[in-house]
Amino acid sequence: MSNFPELRLRRLRQTPGLRRLFRETELDGGDFILPLFVEEGDGPGSSISSMPGVARQTLESLPGELEEIVRLGIGAVILFGIPDTKDELGSSGLDPEGIVPQAVRLIKRQAPELTVITDVCLCEYTSHGHCGIIKGGGVDNDATLPLLAKMAVMHARAGADMVAPSDMMDGRVGAIRQALDEAGLENTPILAYSAKYASAFYGPFREAAGSTPGFGDRRGYQMDPANAREATREIITDINEGADAVMVKPALAYLDIIRQTKDSFDYPVVAYNVSGEYAMVKATAERGWGDEKRLVLEILTSIKRAGADAIITYHAKDAARWLGEQD
Ligand code: PBG
Repeated sequence: MSNFPELRLRRLRQTPGLRRLFRETELDGGDFILPLFVEEGDGPGSSISSMPGVARQTLESLPGELEEIVRLGIGAVILFGIPDTKDELGSSGLDPEGIVPQAVRLIKRQAPELTVITDVCLCEYTSHGHCGIIKGGGVDNDATLPLLAKMAVMHARAGADMVAPSDMMDGRVGAIRQALDEAGLENTPILAYSAKYASAFYGPFREAAGSTPGFGDRRGYQMDPANAREATREIITDINEGADAVMVKPALAYLDIIRQTKDSFDYPVVAYNVSGEYAMVKATAERGWGDEKRLVLEILTSIKRAGADAIITYHAKDAARWLGEQD
């Protein structure tokens, strides 16, 4: 009997060449979707204190940002509107001359190849900050559906390549599909925020969008973080209603949900690496407690390894730059 280990797994880890050859998961700039906050007004756009490195873009600053996005090889963006005015019904989100349709048209003129996804939700446009309209002290599901459908049609008419409802109302995917079809937009795909959890990791986004609920919270419509099987029911429902791709959100604390979705459904899975996940990495790096590049690439690789086909991430520009520098 020899005293040597029979299996030496370290053999294949010895050189960069061997490691590269047998790497199971490889990130690519084409995996990323960069979120863009677009606000009304001119000028350079405004910074967001809890999201260093991310700014709200104006129609004036957007062209410069787009140049960089295209140069880095990022293939897609997802737009969030920050309107000047908010009311009970989120009317500014339904205006065909509102900030999102204007931004979509600008992007499609300047960078027609860039895939433009729009977030469809009322919370950025309502004075109370909830994702639907309020009746009897709560968010009224069925009264909200026509508004979401109208918003989706408007975004698609402006030229959006894909619409992404993030409100978590029941029946919204079906309502949006039907409205798109009736408007002759049957080729516009829907990316459904299907397994969207009521998460504490959305804090910085709400600062960016000014969309913190004025009363209560979102636990009456977003999912309970304790539930995994319920995610499957959400996804089945959205697929049956016509979703073309499904999303799991947040990503890092929900890698099990990403994996289970990938294994159970033959549909593209998108993971959203959300604002609070971004802020944690930024805060760690700022304090010198971790190497930002290594933290980011490890996190994004783990999200892809868990089964994500595409990743929505505020790190997209940095990550694309770092990937370009490698080997
Ligand atoms: C709108 C929406 C939110 C996020 C994406 N779409 C906020 C929320 O649900 O409160 C969060 C994204 C992030 O934290 O990066 N409903």
